Amino acid sequence: MSNDITLVLGATGKSGRRVAARLRLHGTQVRAASRSSATRFDWSDPGGWGPALQGVTAAYVVAPPVPGPVHEFVAQATAAGVRHLVLLSGRGADTWGDSTFGLDMRSAEDAVRGSALEWTVLRASNFNQNFTEDIFHAPLVAGELALPAGAVPDPFIDVEDVADAVAAVLAQPGRHAGRIHELTGSRALTFAEAVELISRASGLPISYTEVSPAEYATALVEEGWGVQDAHHVAEMFVLMQRGLMREPTDGIATVLGRAPRIFEDYVVRAAAAGAWRP
Ligand SMILES: NC(=O)c1ccc[n+]([C@@H]2O[C@H](COP(=O)([O-])OP(=O)(O)OC[C@H]3O[C@@H](n4cnc5c(N)ncnc54)[C@H](OP(=O)(O)O)[C@@H]3O)[C@@H](O)[C@H]2O)c1
Repeated sequence: MSNDITLVLGATGKSGRRVAARLRLHGTQVRAASRSSATRFDWSDPGGWGPALQGVTAAYVVAPPVPGPVHEFVAQATAAGVRHLVLLSGRGADTWGDSTFGLDMRSAEDAVRGSALEWTVLRASNFNQNFTEDIFHAPLVAGELALPAGAVPDPFIDVEDVADAVAAVLAQPGRHAGRIHELTGSRALTFAEAVELISRASGLPISYTEVSPAEYATALVEEGWGVQDAHHVAEMFVLMQRGLMREPTDGIATVLGRAPRIFEDYVVRAAAAGAWRP
């Protein structure tokens, strides 16, 4: 095992914990960090980042929920001797200039792309695992997913593929330096089609209902979301309606030399594990 340490931020999250497992399996020393990890890292506490960065040569960066702190992180990482940064960003981050959605991801991209370090940006489309480990899970378990998603399909990506791509980039940072990879699944599905597949595989009567962005934001606020956060999530669907993120890319093939995992594989595995059982 080399002495190089890779810092994994967002290490308890959907991508970070999968990235950490892959790196450890391949013999990389991992420092897993987040607010609740053994190595504490809080984006709102730059004064406390020193121990997380000590001795680190590469970092996987999950953008913070607010814009700004990645600039300070890059400065501290550079001073600490970090050489490589891999940033998770969102598909379309370059096309949302007129909206307030994704300011965090755009700010993080600016910080990483403007750095003197070897960097790679991975812009992923919406994760399959949002249906099991994130915002869409509870509504599916309750039997109805109501979204303002319309008829524009989305090439959902399996976060296992995202983690494979992160690990591949970290294994050969020079090959991917200065590059932005757009990562998607191989086929675009509407949310209604995705819910239909989930309902069929799970054998549960789960339906999709179309609502307006305003109705969706109101429902999120009723669930306890802050007003601004609720509007940001609803705004994502308005941006998706422009259709700029609907086309699958060859990003996974470029990074991994294979096709992306397919949505149906994810659905049958999750259904078999009882993910949507009430
Ligand atoms: N979900 C998608 O479809 C999708 C698609 C493309 C891009 N993205 C981007 O992916 C990122 C999220 O990645 P993910 O889905 O892997 O993570 P996630 O499942 O959303 O989990 C968030 C992670 O960040 C940590 N975290 C939250 N607030 C923090 C703070 N203030 N300081 C330090 N750590 C904090 C959490 O751990 P603690 O609670 O322990 O701190 C957790 O490990 C976001 O930037 C999102 O925009 C998501």
